[in-house]
Amino acid sequence: MSSDSATTGPSAFETRSLGAIGAEVRGLDLRRAISDDVFDVLRELVMREGLVLFRGQALTSIEQIGLGQRFGPLEQLDVRAEQEEPTLVVIGNLDSKGEVLPADATHMKLISINEGWHTDSSFREIPASFSVFSCVVGPEVGGDTFYANLRRGWVDLPEDLKARLCGLRGVHDYAAAYRARGNDEGGMIGYDLPAIVHPLVRRHPETGTTGLYVSEHISHIEGMDPAESRRLLDELLNHTTAENRIYRHHWSVGDVMIWDNRSMLHRAQGFDQRHPRVMHHVRVGGFERPIAAT
Ligand code: SIN
Repeated sequence: MSSDSATTGPSAFETRSLGAIGAEVRGLDLRRAISDDVFDVLRELVMREGLVLFRGQALTSIEQIGLGQRFGPLEQLDVRAEQEEPTLVVIGNLDSKGEVLPADATHMKLISINEGWHTDSSFREIPASFSVFSCVVGPEVGGDTFYANLRRGWVDLPEDLKARLCGLRGVHDYAAAYRARGNDEGGMIGYDLPAIVHPLVRRHPETGTTGLYVSEHISHIEGMDPAESRRLLDELLNHTTAENRIYRHHWSVGDVMIWDNRSMLHRAQGFDQRHPRVMHHVRVGGFERPIAAT
């Protein structure tokens, strides 16, 4: 793996490639005050790489929220009534007493939607921009998260297919995505909202690069024959998430991952009820509606 250093700004930090996509940062402590110059370099790095990993940084909830707020105002994500802080979602398989929840608990069924490839909050008119995700209780085995780069997915497509995709729109239907995983109880993020359409090919608002905007939370392509729509969505997702294009992360306590939802897909491997797993997630609100690439 290649190693590099981010030399802009007063306190340079080291970066190391994670493989097909993504980078790990070393030499930057997220729990300490980060100057605006260094933060700007980090933000650029996240947009360029798509995802950036830090290890050994057990952030408090307040520190994680503060880090997220450096990227922009946070989404309110009140999932469980007992949550103290509505901008920080606890994604885990433990109840409030620390006992592992049964696999058929409502909460486990609800968070199983994360097992499909997606970008965060695409049920909103303005979906999330960045996500900051940290591991609080790391499972011995399993519980990995997979990442794929939508820009890479686009670049590698044949030109005739690219031309066909521009102008198409995907219908993001969270209720359908929950139902597809056997949950029709509602009460989870995005469940009760009407489906929303977004371009299938989008221009990144800051880097100007073009990327696919496909997801397993898209039920179909607007106005297309259902079978053809399914075939095309599956083809695009399979292409973008091919084994040689993804990064798979096994979590350890203190790992922090920051990603840019405007260019990245992710999915959870899912929970193994033999192994406690608790993650903290904050999502930075988007700044504009997804821009259709032409
Ligand atoms: C998510 O999709 O937001 C969570 C991913 C995970 O739990 O690995």
